[in-house]
Amino acid sequence: MSTHAAAIMPAPRARLTVTTLPTPTPAPDEVLVRVRAVAVNPVDWVIQGTSRVTYRWLRTPAVLGSDVAGEVLATGANVTRFRVGQRVFGLATGTDRGRDPLREGAFQDATVLSEQLTTPTPTSLSDEEAAVLPLAVSTAACALFQPAHLGLRTPSAETAGGGAGVVVVWGGSTSVGMSAVQLARAAGYDVVSTASPRNADLVRSLGADAVADHGSRTAVDDLVAAIGSRPVVGAVALGAGSADACIDILARTGGTRLALASTPYSLAGLVGRRRLFPTMIPVFSRIGLATVRSMLRARRRGIRAAFVWGSSLRDDDLGPRLWGEVLPQLLADGRLRALPEPMVVGTGLASLQDALDQQRAGVSARKIVVRL
Ligand SMILES: NC(=O)c1ccc[n+]([C@@H]2O[C@H](COP(=O)([O-])OP(=O)(O)OC[C@H]3O[C@@H](n4cnc5c(N)ncnc54)[C@H](OP(=O)(O)O)[C@@H]3O)[C@@H](O)[C@H]2O)c1
Repeated sequence: MSTHAAAIMPAPRARLTVTTLPTPTPAPDEVLVRVRAVAVNPVDWVIQGTSRVTYRWLRTPAVLGSDVAGEVLATGANVTRFRVGQRVFGLATGTDRGRDPLREGAFQDATVLSEQLTTPTPTSLSDEEAAVLPLAVSTAACALFQPAHLGLRTPSAETAGGGAGVVVVWGGSTSVGMSAVQLARAAGYDVVSTASPRNADLVRSLGADAVADHGSRTAVDDLVAAIGSRPVVGAVALGAGSADACIDILARTGGTRLALASTPYSLAGLVGRRRLFPTMIPVFSRIGLATVRSMLRARRRGIRAAFVWGSSLRDDDLGPRLWGEVLPQLLADGRLRALPEPMVVGTGLASLQDALDQQRAGVSARKIVVRL
């Protein structure tokens, strides 16, 4: 039996440690990948710190992580799009309900990915650059294109340019936001967005025609003015406080669809505490109450709001469309840039705990990446 090294979370709230695991055999629709670079997402430290409450199905030990870039070691019997040795990147879904968190987590030297959530890495991208995309671009696509959310048309060769209506992306300088701005533009929509002033030009360069400062009291007014009389096809809310701001914008511009990706308050402070109980009780109560309040506000204004689950495209036809058609096309024709820029904070699995801690401490328009 062959084995490989993995960073495991031995128990809920335990720090990551490096151990050896049996290397899995890919199922018929999977590829086994030698992982060369992984990126870190907020959900990784959220799971580590709060899985007893938020990911109750997750059994431990578990391998965390969603973002994988590397090369194919073996292919399952039904895999047609990849060959051994090919450079690929893809979305690892091991922490989702019903998945196997040891076989399918990103933070290990070898993992299995669904063929349908994997795509060839263009020669123009390093593994570190490709690793910034999987969860961000999948979440953005779910928000924009799933019928339960904005239900917009997907990008194709015919959908360049704008004019098909305005998408509001609150939080355009987040990883998900950068993908959302670019995907919406590639699908033919105009985009207005938010960022801190230092990141406004970057978000404009991705295709937003107006970028307000999400820290400013006038951000909602600024975006409503920038939208003018154009029809609004929906909003994607990213970051603390984004839901209510988007509800205000939609109510004032006639938009009716809202995709929510963030909790109303960050869990970073809670995760940093030594004990989860009983500190979590007021924090989760505030989050629950704020969410109910926002949902009621949205409903009163005729806005349909729902939470996005970034890996839910595993179970619908958006997954194969995004990973099999849209991503190769947009990366090839330059309509999608792999952003935010990777910030490589270490090499080797032992660097991953520090990488999670750095992501929790906060980043600005950078993706924390570890080389394996
Ligand atoms: N539901 C899902 O499936 C799913 C999946 C992935 C992510 N998410 C959530 O989506 C959000 C973004 O995740 P990410 O990985 O893209 O984040 P990220 O890259 O870590 O986001 C960092 C950026 O957040 C921006 N930011 C900080 N406070 C903000 C606020 N109040 N409003 C808007 N932007 C703010 C900062 O922009 P400036 O520096 O320009 O201020 C910073 O550049 C997080 O809440 C995350 O938990 C949800």
